[in-house]
Amino acid sequence: MRLYSRITGTGSCLPSRRLTNADLADELATSGVVTTDDWIVERTGIRARHFAAADVCSSDLGVEAAQQALQAAKLLASDIDLIIVATSTPDMVFPSTACILQNKLGAHGCAAFDVQAVCSGFIYALTIADAMIKAGSATKALVIGAEVFSRLLDFKDRTTCVLFGDGAGAVVLEASRTPGILASDLHADGKHVGILCVPGHVSGGKVLGDPLLKMDGKAVFKLAVGVLDEAARAVLAKAGKVAADIDWLIPHQANIRIMQGAARKLKLPMDKVIVTVDQHGNTSAASIPLALDSGIRSGKIKPGELLMLEGVGGGFTWGAVLLNL
Ligand code: ACO
Repeated sequence: MRLYSRITGTGSCLPSRRLTNADLADELATSGVVTTDDWIVERTGIRARHFAAADVCSSDLGVEAAQQALQAAKLLASDIDLIIVATSTPDMVFPSTACILQNKLGAHGCAAFDVQAVCSGFIYALTIADAMIKAGSATKALVIGAEVFSRLLDFKDRTTCVLFGDGAGAVVLEASRTPGILASDLHADGKHVGILCVPGHVSGGKVLGDPLLKMDGKAVFKLAVGVLDEAARAVLAKAGKVAADIDWLIPHQANIRIMQGAARKLKLPMDKVIVTVDQHGNTSAASIPLALDSGIRSGKIKPGELLMLEGVGGGFTWGAVLLNL
């Protein structure tokens, strides 16, 4: 009998410090940077975001999300045999955030590694965990997206610093004879490296280059809607489904206008789209599992429903996963 992987629990964590657009505008004004709630809401749909305290790392947010997901799946940390963390804001250069998180979780000995695909990271990590479960090299995986993106923001650049937030989301993915993940599709095109990047690195004890986020917003916008649609159509075709079969679209929460564009192309009404960008901002690799957990815990998403998860981000990377919950 064929082996599948299935999500059996979800969890999330947001840092306690929440800033509305007005709070952020007030803070930016102290250094002469002008923005308004109206501008941010109209261009992005974002109303608030959470920022982690200076001593909180991606692994701290990730471990809390993972503990919730384990509880929802009725599993113990010791049951887990694979941990994948998607992050662009690792705690250290090395070891991986997954190893640090594994230790905080008390799940010693299982395979643990990070995936770096920026805002598509969770889609990449979920696809890898699914493949490892189907190959028989794992049976119970924790897949986590965790970010402290506020650390990468240039608070003098109003075109980018209003867009992002911190947080983590997690799922438990278990081997199952019942189909859960039906199909996935991953892509990257490195020729677009420059449109969204943090071009610094560590060398000889110093940070070389610029360690703050740079983005060509218009170029990102233009690419994002098209590639999300391609990935969504690819997974539908692989699974023998059509867009009308989708119960919930859970896109990367970058900007409400990108999400509306993605839904429009699939001819899905916005009431079939899980939206958390208004409350979380763009939390990069954490945004999809945060939105998934919010949809499940609010009672919108129900067991057995067909979910389309789709991500796009720096690299440029993009991809989608179609699954039955
Ligand atoms: N507050 C007030 N005014 C602002 C702000 C701000 N925060 N930021 C820019 N402006 C001004 C600009 O200076 C410009 O003023 P000007 O006309 O006097 O020169 C005006 O607003 C328009 O700026 P644009 O950059 O043309 O605005 P645009 O409509 O393109 O919106 C945005 C910018 C929101 C970044 C848009 O391009 C976008 O959503 N891009 C997608 C990027 C994205 O979502 N990235 C997330 C990361 S990527 C990912 O996760 C996939």
